Amino acid sequence: MLNLDSLPLSRKQLRSIGQARARINLWHGSVRSGKTIASLLAFVIAVATAGPSGLIIICGRSLQTIERNCLDPLQDAALFGPLARHVVHTRGATTATILGRTVHLIGAADARAEGRLRGLTAQLAYVDEATLMPEGFWTQLLARLSAPGARLFATTNPDSPRHWLKKGYLDRSTELDMRAWHFKLRDNPSLSAAYVDALAAEYVGLWRRRMIDGAWVVAEGAIYDMWDEDRHVVDELPSMRRHWVGLDYGTTNPFAALLLGEGVDDRLYVCAEWRHDSRATHRSMTDAQYSTAVRDWLGELGAAPEWTFIDPSAASFITQLWADGHPGIARAVNDVSDGIRSVAALLAAGRLLVHRSCEGLLDELPGYSWDPKATEVGEDKPLKVDDHSVDALRYVIHSTAHEWRHLLTTHRPEEAAA
Ligand SMILES: Nc1ncnc2c1ncn2[C@@H]1O[C@H](COP(=O)(O)OP(=O)(O)OP(=O)(O)O)[C@@H](O)[C@H]1O
Ligand SMILES: [Mg+2]
Repeated sequence: MLNLDSLPLSRKQLRSIGQARARINLWHGSVRSGKTIASLLAFVIAVATAGPSGLIIICGRSLQTIERNCLDPLQDAALFGPLARHVVHTRGATTATILGRTVHLIGAADARAEGRLRGLTAQLAYVDEATLMPEGFWTQLLARLSAPGARLFATTNPDSPRHWLKKGYLDRSTELDMRAWHFKLRDNPSLSAAYVDALAAEYVGLWRRRMIDGAWVVAEGAIYDMWDEDRHVVDELPSMRRHWVGLDYGTTNPFAALLLGEGVDDRLYVCAEWRHDSRATHRSMTDAQYSTAVRDWLGELGAAPEWTFIDPSAASFITQLWADGHPGIARAVNDVSDGIRSVAALLAAGRLLVHRSCEGLLDELPGYSWDPKATEVGEDKPLKVDDHSVDALRYVIHSTAHEWRHLLTTHRPEEAAA
């Protein structure tokens, strides 16, 4: 069935496939470690031998992620050989056919998705990225797996040790009818040393421990624990190739704008900051005044940013900037966790430096911390205090990630040592 010439499975992969006979089967661990390939194979073998009663389901965050993470690999002949031809799916359709069996595809982005499972009886389910599922969806799915011998196959990267999947299932696997395999990068035989190095450069701190080491660890203490004033603050700026702006809007809270430059030395620089704190100054500003102030500030700096990335919730201010003819306005990508990871990776690599004049940012960076209350319940959230310039930084850094991603992997060893 498998194209074993191009896909020699690792011992861990083979073992997990042979052992996946429990009611709940979970592959967890590092990114790119071969979990998806092993679990998909175990799932397909189960489909091949499935009885007539009960539905077969694949669940993921959305139909698109199911297609990308599950169906695309299954249809890849380089991976699955002749089997790939027996996986039929039309993009956008909510079913696929695997070995002649209909498989239902269910996206579960939010708690409402649970409703889609109500009333059905399933015999096999595959769950991609299990920690990203709402807990209610997972519970409902297990309740639906009521056909005799029903089985669940799931993969995930590690999250908080207090995450519901870890506490409620993985830690109790001996009490439950559950089998779990922990994968590390070395369990994927296809990764070159250079690729592993490049991956490791993208993940630092918390994410290094979770995504590379594959450990379930809490987010606690300082978020940017790699921040070091001696290393990251500069008095001189090189010439810049281009600029972008990141902007966190506030009326009662502080308003913060940062000018980010791409230096000719292949580093990113926070060159300048404009902030207004209406509480401290006892003077609130209208959107029109903010717009004028920001454009005057950029004018004085002589900077013409390619894009200005704005707090996506600041609808009225975005409209004002448009009306005032400010060029290149974009809503910032506001994925908090991924944004923090981007900033952290650049700081750790010594690729992001801050000019000494950016006082608000320099004040906020060291104290920016994970919220212990959220940590308690297994979530990663920053404390919502003094997060204005750091949010502006996250917006401009993460929204431009495709522009600077390559900087993390070029000339890295010397830079990291500096
Ligand atoms: N035994 C193998 N031989 C060759 N290539 C493999 C093997 N196992 C996995 N791969 C390839 O390595 C890459 C990562 O594998 P896979 O998608 O299974 O990892 P994963 O653990 O699910 O990663 P993630 O956590 O990022 O989803 C894929 O491109 C896959 O095709
Ligand atoms: Mg995967």
